[in-house]
Amino acid sequence: MSFPMNFLWGGATAANQCEGAYDLDGRGLANVDVLPIGPDRFEILAGKKKHFKFDDEHVYPAKKGIDFYHHYKEDIKLFAEMGFKVYRFSLAWTRIFPNGNDEQPNEKGLQFYEDVINECLKYDIEPLITITHFDVPMHLVETFGSWRNRKLIECYERLCRTIFTRYKGMVKYWLTFNEINMILHLPFMGAGLCFEEGENEEQVKYQAAHYELVASALATKIAKEIDPEMQIGCMLAGGVFYAQTPNPKDVWAVRQAEMENYFFIDVQARGKYPSYAIKEWERKGIELDITEEDLTLLAENTVDFISFSYYSSRVTADQTEEAEKTAGNAFASLENPYLSSSEWGWQIDPLGLRITLNDIYQRYQKPLFLVENGLGAIDTPDENHDVADDYRIDYLSSHIQAMSDAISLDGVDLIGYTTWGCIDLVSAGTGEMKKRYGFIYVDLDNEGEGTLQRYKKKSFSWYQRVIETNGEER
Ligand code: BG6
Repeated sequence: MSFPMNFLWGGATAANQCEGAYDLDGRGLANVDVLPIGPDRFEILAGKKKHFKFDDEHVYPAKKGIDFYHHYKEDIKLFAEMGFKVYRFSLAWTRIFPNGNDEQPNEKGLQFYEDVINECLKYDIEPLITITHFDVPMHLVETFGSWRNRKLIECYERLCRTIFTRYKGMVKYWLTFNEINMILHLPFMGAGLCFEEGENEEQVKYQAAHYELVASALATKIAKEIDPEMQIGCMLAGGVFYAQTPNPKDVWAVRQAEMENYFFIDVQARGKYPSYAIKEWERKGIELDITEEDLTLLAENTVDFISFSYYSSRVTADQTEEAEKTAGNAFASLENPYLSSSEWGWQIDPLGLRITLNDIYQRYQKPLFLVENGLGAIDTPDENHDVADDYRIDYLSSHIQAMSDAISLDGVDLIGYTTWGCIDLVSAGTGEMKKRYGFIYVDLDNEGEGTLQRYKKKSFSWYQRVIETNGEER
C-alpha cells in the first residue's frame, strides 16, 4: 500500500473561474473579472496593457463562470459521490470586501462561503481554502497600484482576520496565495500589477512579491493566534527544469530558473531571503522597502506545509530564442523530444512529477500537498452527453503512479492530491471553456452559450474507484 490511510484525495477550483455571479449580493469587481478573451489577452495578463473596465469588444468569461454560485450544492454532491476527502476552492476577496479596504465585511459574501463549507462538511469533505487565487479588488488596483503598495498588507490582514474568525473550527487547511511565483510571469493576472512606461518592472515585481510574502507570514501568525489547529500552506507553480544539453552553461541556466522559481518558497518555508536573491538585487540595482519588522515576521512565521501545482516539466538553455519555446504556457519551455504534448502544447511528463516531488521535499523537508494537476483537453460528448475521456484517465493515472513511487520508493511525505478543475471551468490562461479538465462536463461554450447542465464523464467513475481503493486501482 503506497498511499497513507488518511491521504486527502479530491479536486480543486478557483472562485473567478467557476462562481460567476460577479455582481450579485454586493460583490465588487476584481482584476480577474476584467480579463477578456481576445487577441490582446496576454498583453493584459502580463500588465503591459491597462484594461480595467468591461467594453463591448471583448467577452469576459468570469462574469458567468460555470455559475457555481447557484449550483454549488449539486456540484459538491457530485464531488461527494466520487468520494472526495477534500475540496480545494478559493474565496473571492471582493465578495467579502467589495472594495478591499471597506471597514466592514459583506455579510452575504461571508454567508455564501459558510454555506459552501457546510455543504462540504455535510459529506465529510475537508475544505481546503485558497485565500486569494490571483484576485485583487479593482478598487485596490486603481487606488494603490495593487501589491506594489504596502497598504495591501493591511487589507489582506483584514480579510484574513475576518475569515479565520468566521470559519474557525470549520476549516483546517489554508493556502495564502495561489501560485505566488505567477507574479513574475503574468503580473496583472497573478497580482493586479500594471506597469507604467519606462519603469523598472523587476523592481516593481519584487517589491510586490515582498509585500505578498509579508502578508502571507502575517496570515500564518494570525491563524495560529485564532486557532492553533489551522494549517497554513504556501503554493508554487511547480515543475522540474531540464537542461537542453549537458553544456554547463545550459545546466547553469537551469539553476537560475530554479532559483527564480523557488525564491518564494525559500522565504515562506525557511523564513529568510536566500543569498542568491539578495546578490541579484544588488547587481541589478533593485532596492526594496524591507523593514526589520518584516524580516522578523518572515522568520517567525514559516508555513506548515508546501503545496504546488504540476502540469508539466520545462526545458531550458543558456540562450533561449522566443521562437523555439512551446506554445500556450505562462512558463517558457523548449521542446522536449522525449515527451508528447497536450493540445495546448503542455508537455506531458509523469516522471517529472516524481522528480519535482523529490526536489521540493528534499529542499524543505515539510509535508507536501499536490493541489493542482490535470490535462486540459477538448471533450466531445456523444448524443447521450457521454464523454469517453480516456486521454484524461491516462494522464491522471500515470501521475498518480508517479506520486505513489515518490511516497513508497523515495519516502516523500505527500499528504494529499487535488486534481485541477474537477468540474469543467474557465481556463485561467486562455479564458476558454473548451479547455476542459473536469470529471464533470459542463454544457457551456467559449461564447458563454449552453444549458449549464452537468454530466459525468468516463473519468468520473474511474476517479471514484481510485479514491475507493486509496489509489491501489488507477
Ligand atoms: C494554474 C492556475 O496556473 O493552472 C489555475 O492556478 C489554472 O488557475 C491552471 O486554471 C490551468 O491553467 P489553464 O490556463 O489551463 O486554465
